[in-house]
Amino acid sequence: MFYHAKKNWELPSSAVTPERVFLNRRETLLGLGASLIPLGAYAEEAIKTADLYPAKLNETYKLDRPVTPEKINQTYNNFYEYTTDKRVNADMLRIRPWTVTVGGMVEKEKTWDIDDLIRTIGVEERLYRHRCVEAWSMAIPWSGFPLRTLVEQAKPLSSAKYVRFETFLDKKMAPGQRSFMAWPYVESLTMAEATNDLAFIATGAYGKPISKVQGAPIRLATPWKYGFKSIKSIVKISFVDKMPETFWANTGPTEYGFWANVNPDVPHPRWSQASETDLTTGSRRPTLLYNGYGEQVAALYKGLEKQPLFM
Ligand code: MTE
Repeated sequence: MFYHAKKNWELPSSAVTPERVFLNRRETLLGLGASLIPLGAYAEEAIKTADLYPAKLNETYKLDRPVTPEKINQTYNNFYEYTTDKRVNADMLRIRPWTVTVGGMVEKEKTWDIDDLIRTIGVEERLYRHRCVEAWSMAIPWSGFPLRTLVEQAKPLSSAKYVRFETFLDKKMAPGQRSFMAWPYVESLTMAEATNDLAFIATGAYGKPISKVQGAPIRLATPWKYGFKSIKSIVKISFVDKMPETFWANTGPTEYGFWANVNPDVPHPRWSQASETDLTTGSRRPTLLYNGYGEQVAALYKGLEKQPLFM
């Protein structure tokens, strides 16, 4: 997020050029044409739960802005396992077979086949805002299930205080993992955060299984927090009693901390968080405390107000 020669908050060409022109130019340059949004699947990567999408929309979660066009969403990503550029090619990511181990302080550890997990819990669609710490934002139609359902399935012990999430580690499949950073990518939530209504496990987006660049086959979506909390391509979920060390806290300790709640009043050490570039329109908009989800999450942080919530 910050090991970039170019300033990350600079507008992408999609934001300053009408979308149609931008896409035509990209397609011509890259020869991508109609395959601009492939799942990038290998022949053996049949997704046995593809029939579950598009999922029924859960109307509780309303947007205050239009959904970001899929083509913009697919061509402006952060996935450091592949590149530090915004234009990610994650075709090398093999998403089937895929297992997720749910363990640590639980009654009984379980390793799920991803499609068994998705079919067992089922999926719904939710429209969420998405705000990156780099001061850009989108609005995304995720499909998946509440993290709370998975927590309940796992039966954590009462002594568990945090949920720790870990991305795969495979330097052959993810060349970016050969860099100096603190791989694998790890993120964490408190138990109260993980069981909040908004905490969502995304297995789909835009009415189909989630794409590789978005963190297939399973990622987190915590829309009141900066995007770096929303860990992609999860293989392990553990319940623990100590605050876990996270990828960004280890890789950039002076910049990226545990709480990471969207907060316009707490600037990043190198830029303001008061406003953001809406990638759908290319224009700036004021940033909202908790990304506008205060009603659902503010109570989680009562008594913590004096803590540097960003750091
Ligand atoms: N998860 C992993 N494993 N690797 C990453 O590099 N980037 C994070 C987050 N999750 C990242 C990750 C950051 S900084 C952001 S803003 C979001 O993913 C980006 O999600 P998007 O590409 O779907 O917009």
